[in-house]
Amino acid sequence: WINMIAGLLLGYLLGSIPFGLLLTKASGGGDIRNIGSGNIGATNVLRTGRKGLAALTLLLDLLKGFFAVFIATHYLPGGAVFAAAGAFFGHLYPIWLGFKGGKGVATYAGIMFGLFWQGGVVYAIAWIGALVIFRISSLAGLLAALCAPIAAAYFGRYDLVALLVACTLIVFWKHRTNIENLLDGTEPRIGKSKS
Ligand code: G3P
Repeated sequence: WINMIAGLLLGYLLGSIPFGLLLTKASGGGDIRNIGSGNIGATNVLRTGRKGLAALTLLLDLLKGFFAVFIATHYLPGGAVFAAAGAFFGHLYPIWLGFKGGKGVATYAGIMFGLFWQGGVVYAIAWIGALVIFRISSLAGLLAALCAPIAAAYFGRYDLVALLVACTLIVFWKHRTNIENLLDGTEPRIGKSKS
């Protein structure tokens, strides 16, 4: 159980690094939490007009999830699932930001690739596919999150289903305002401003 706790802590520490906030501040863009939706994720960083910074936020938020699982898989036997949970939870509820973190879509992709690559591929295809079709970030993220536990069941990774169902439910909860906007037809397309 030492490895499980170590995995959880390692995941949480990596997951709670708020790259969107740090990168926006470092590049002189101010506090991302006062811009657009107030979210610290790549979609909102894009609303600052800095495309490269948004791409970097997306990549780093994904990689922190991936590496948490990757490191645990190699150095903490039995700790990978806990590292995944820790990274996901750390991104959504970082202690450094008073537990007000991101919405989890990019970090979810990272832990999926870390846990089982087939799941990562399914997640990425659903995410990118929906993004291309609808051009609405939240909708694409929600659809990808929905695919995650289904992919685990499909590929026989029943050990991951409970964790992924929980992650998907939390992603939906974090997107509750986006879901209201989607139902109203007022959710903006990518790169559009949001008040
Ligand atoms: O991953 C976040 C995205 O799905 C929605 O972000 O800023 O439009 O609420 P935002």
